[in-house]
Amino acid sequence: MRTLLSGKRYGNFMVFACKKITGWCSYSLMTRSAIHELSKLLASSERTEGSMSKAKPSKERRPVPLTLSRVTRSSSAQARQGDPTVPQDASAGPQMAPNQGAPRGRQADSALAQDLSLMSMSEQEATLPRHRTPPGMKSSRSPPRLASKPIRTAVPRGTLNSVARLLKLGRCRNVLVVAGAGISTASGIPDFRTPGTGLYANLQRYHTPFPEAIFNIDFFSNDPRPFFSLAKELYPGRHRPNYVHYFIRMLHQKGLLLRMYTQNIDGLEQMCGIPEEKLVEAHGSFASASCHLCYTPFPAEEAKKFIMTDRVPLCTFCQGTVKPDIVFFGEDLPQSYFQHIKDFPKADLLIIMGTSLQIEPFASLVNTVRSTVPRLLLNRDPVGPFQRVPLRRGDYMELGDLLDSVRKLAQILGWHQDICDLIQDEEQKAGGALSASGWGLTLAEVKHPGGGASGRSGDESSDDSEADSKSTESSAPSS
Ligand code: OAD
Repeated sequence: MRTLLSGKRYGNFMVFACKKITGWCSYSLMTRSAIHELSKLLASSERTEGSMSKAKPSKERRPVPLTLSRVTRSSSAQARQGDPTVPQDASAGPQMAPNQGAPRGRQADSALAQDLSLMSMSEQEATLPRHRTPPGMKSSRSPPRLASKPIRTAVPRGTLNSVARLLKLGRCRNVLVVAGAGISTASGIPDFRTPGTGLYANLQRYHTPFPEAIFNIDFFSNDPRPFFSLAKELYPGRHRPNYVHYFIRMLHQKGLLLRMYTQNIDGLEQMCGIPEEKLVEAHGSFASASCHLCYTPFPAEEAKKFIMTDRVPLCTFCQGTVKPDIVFFGEDLPQSYFQHIKDFPKADLLIIMGTSLQIEPFASLVNTVRSTVPRLLLNRDPVGPFQRVPLRRGDYMELGDLLDSVRKLAQILGWHQDICDLIQDEEQKAGGALSASGWGLTLAEVKHPGGGASGRSGDESSDDSEADSKSTESSAPSS
């Protein structure tokens, strides 16, 4: 830890991060690459000091369960670029007092290093056979041969059919959905990391030292204005849920949704009618607000009024800045997140949608279902464990536009018309002028609300565009 606390090599960000993970935070987030850096650093610090203190060899140490790990939300960009509260070109940030960060005992540090390295392990390593030598230890075996052919081109045909078949056969009744910003792009909300269009590629006007600083709690503490300017755009109310959200609601209506875990802060899941008890907003939401220092609650509507009129809401108790309860890098995740400890072992199908799986601890959730549980990734690119070649048995991946994939899946399941009807109802209730573009519906579906419901069959491949029916027909379920 002393290596970290001197903080020379990695700057004050590392000091900040280690302070958090060893001191105060019980469970908060970081990007996978920052965890990797930290675990390497902790391990090397331990080696240096361990040679003097004769620490126990690592294989004798009790493994720390992933679910109980202590991690800080922070960013790879921070790890690379130093203190988020100083401009990028500052050569050195303020130094930290040697006693700051409450260094913990050797054992705790080593457990932490182990824990971090577990989380930062590449997904290939994480899913390789158990006899493989742990990372960092020399092996007498020759390294396992990995297929050199990239998986991207090898999307198996009938992926959606296979999963739909399981659902139709009633083998999956406890479905977990894990989602990210990709499910809301069809509603007109950009995701975070898509090059060019993602939010992080378009924050120049906020003059933050690096994009993710806008969601960094220390940066916010110093200067809340960039976040508040952005918040004016992000506040829920300007966008409506799309077909993907309604598909998840349909899972619930069919009695199949165990829980949805979302990283999104746009509130579209609640807006489409997924009930609160079925939803875990792991990165918080705008629905409540509190002081970022003493956590005294502040009326959310009041906070919104302040922010919308370019004023800074201040805590009535300590005068600290109030912010919406979105989880920033360096903050703890909400209590509801811990339901995952019960939910994930219970799941019989995991659907992962529209996320880059870059942010921990959320990203590692997908590795906590039982090894026999099928996992379906619907995304533009392979992410997390789906980058593994070959895919784990029971892993299914459908790459491409999420709306198309979800729509195909709904058609195979025979749910498409139900979803269209649901959208019509909900959007009319909300007083929205239904347009073809907004919800992933075709013009014909918009013009004939509810049409075709009576002639619905189990496989709806006939009620859609030619292109769609081709794709569903080519992958008709075998059951
Ligand atoms: P990212 O932007 O990191 O990832 C979105 C993923 O969705 C990418 O893999 C995209 O390729 C994919 N995607 C986007 N649109 C799609 C579409 N129409 N069809 C198919 N795939 C699509 O977003 P998240 O993983 O949600 O923190 O990011 C996680 C967290 O990082 C966020 O919660 C956020 C950010 O820091 C906060 O909001 C505080």
